[in-house]
Amino acid sequence: MHTHTQVWPTEVIDANDLDVAVKAAVAALRDNQVVAVPTETVYGLAARGLNDDAIAAIYRTKGRPSNNPLILHVASADDAWPLFDLDDVARARAVALADAFWPGPLTIVGTASALVPAAVRAGLPKVAVRVPAHPFAHALAVALGEPFAAPSANLSGRPSPTSARDVLLTLDRRLPLVIDGGACGAGIESSVVDVSGPRPRLLRPGALSVLELRRFVADIDVRPPGLAAHVDDASPGLRHQHYAPLGGASLIDTSALPTVWDDVDVGIIARRVDVAGRLAPRAEGAFTVLLDDDTAGYAREIFAALYRAERASPKRLVVVNVPDDEAWIGVRDRLLRATAQA
Ligand code: TXA
Ligand code: MG
Repeated sequence: MHTHTQVWPTEVIDANDLDVAVKAAVAALRDNQVVAVPTETVYGLAARGLNDDAIAAIYRTKGRPSNNPLILHVASADDAWPLFDLDDVARARAVALADAFWPGPLTIVGTASALVPAAVRAGLPKVAVRVPAHPFAHALAVALGEPFAAPSANLSGRPSPTSARDVLLTLDRRLPLVIDGGACGAGIESSVVDVSGPRPRLLRPGALSVLELRRFVADIDVRPPGLAAHVDDASPGLRHQHYAPLGGASLIDTSALPTVWDDVDVGIIARRVDVAGRLAPRAEGAFTVLLDDDTAGYAREIFAALYRAERASPKRLVVVNVPDDEAWIGVRDRLLRATAQA
């Protein structure tokens, strides 16, 4: 067995040719290779989820720490339940959540059954599972007939990709196939909920709002977002610095915007509302991305904006903070981790 990363000519297939794309992806997966696929949240790096060689290929391709477990993706809730070994309380919570949000951007964490290999759960007793809503990802799960594991399709530590182009920016030639489904609808990853504790717990805020989740698990435990809050947490992925663009980025308050606005060496990512009516247009050549004022629109664009910043490579990049309230918790989590000092 070789541990170096193989070099591929990476093929890109349009997801609109659904049959062709699904067939090509299934063939590669059955060969225990990894394939980047569109989902409704971000692009995923898919491989057979119950096969040790395929799982090893994901960790190798991403350069992912082996203590950070993967999410299994299946075609339906019926396909999910055999992967869990839940007590009655946990099962009732899981069924309520699955009925409400699957297929969709919700990942359920609970005690794993004997079907789930240790490698995919990074040796933890629990497993993470979701049913993707994206037409390609869903068709792939159906055609494959077994779970596929899929972390975000980026080199470990970098922003999650929301287009095929951004997948290729960090993974070109590290994998044989990318399925191009255009831009992702949600733009940040699934919300991860552990149903197995004394209280259900939001392990990772994400595309599904906390408000929506509370309607179905009223007593859900929600932690403040960001790296520091999760140092010895149950969600290993949150321990790692993540999402940082090359060249780094820092987070500033809206009130500090005027101090950087006229400096063409500083790239700025901000909401329109932060700027509107208060600042004159920036000088030509200054890197500026203005994002939607509302959470869904902002979330859809933020990772693409971080990659745009990488390509433009301003001397310094600042991201203007978003409101400190629950509606923004998923976005704030990403911003805090993208700008954390390693
Ligand atoms: O939207 C998404 O969830 C995307 C798309 C591709 O489906 N996938 C994704 O995977 O974001 P990844 O690997 O980047 O993030 C997985 C998250 C991490 O925070 C990880 O710690 C957590 O899920 N997770 C996975 N298995 C777990 C487990 N057994 N216990 C606790 N947390 C787990
Ligand atoms: Mg990720």
